[in-house]
Amino acid sequence: MRTRLTVLAFSTLPVTAPAMGQEREPLLLNEAHRQIVLAEMRGMLEGVQGIIGALSKADMETVAKLSTELGMGGPKPPMELRRRLPDEFRKMGFQVHTAFDELAASARAGEDTPRLLNRLQHALSGCTACHRKFQITHADY
Ligand code: HEC
Repeated sequence: MRTRLTVLAFSTLPVTAPAMGQEREPLLLNEAHRQIVLAEMRGMLEGVQGIIGALSKADMETVAKLSTELGMGGPKPPMELRRRLPDEFRKMGFQVHTAFDELAASARAGEDTPRLLNRLQHALSGCTACHRKFQITHADY
C-alpha cells in the first residue's frame, strides 16, 4: 500500500501535463476536412499578422481590408464540412468572424490604434477560447 501511494505521488506530475490536451472536446473530422480547417486557421493567423503590421504603420485601409477578409463575408467551408461542426464550434467561429467585422468597421470609422488593438485582442480571445475547447480527432466517414 505504502509503495503504491508513493508511486501515485510521483506519477502525478508527469501524467497531468499530457493529459491536459485530452480534456479538450474532440472535433471529429476526416483527413480532408481536417486539412481544410487547418488551412483556414493558418490563413487567419496570417491575416492577424498582416493586421498588426498595418496597425503599426497606421495603415487603416489595410487594417479594414484584412479584417473584412476574416469577417463573416470570408470564404465558407464546404457544406459537407460545416454539417460536421458542433453548434458550439460554429458559434465560437461566428463570434470571431463578427469581431473582425467590427474591427473593420472601427478602422474605417477612424478609431485610434489603442482601441483597434483592444478590439483585435478581443477577437483573438475567441481564437484561444476555441483552441482550449476543441481538438481535431480523426474520424472515418
Ligand atoms: C471555432 C473554433 C476555432 C476558432 C474560433 C479558431 N480556431 Fe484555430 N484551431 C481550431 C482547432 C480545433 C484547431 C486544431 C487544434 C488541434 O487539433 O489540436 C486549430 C488550429 C489552429 C492553428 C494550427 C494550424 C495548423 O496548420 O496546424 C492555427 C495557426 C490557428 N488555429 C490559428 C487561429 C487563429 C489566429 C484564430 C483566430 C483569428 C483561430 N485559430 C480561431 C479551432 C479554432
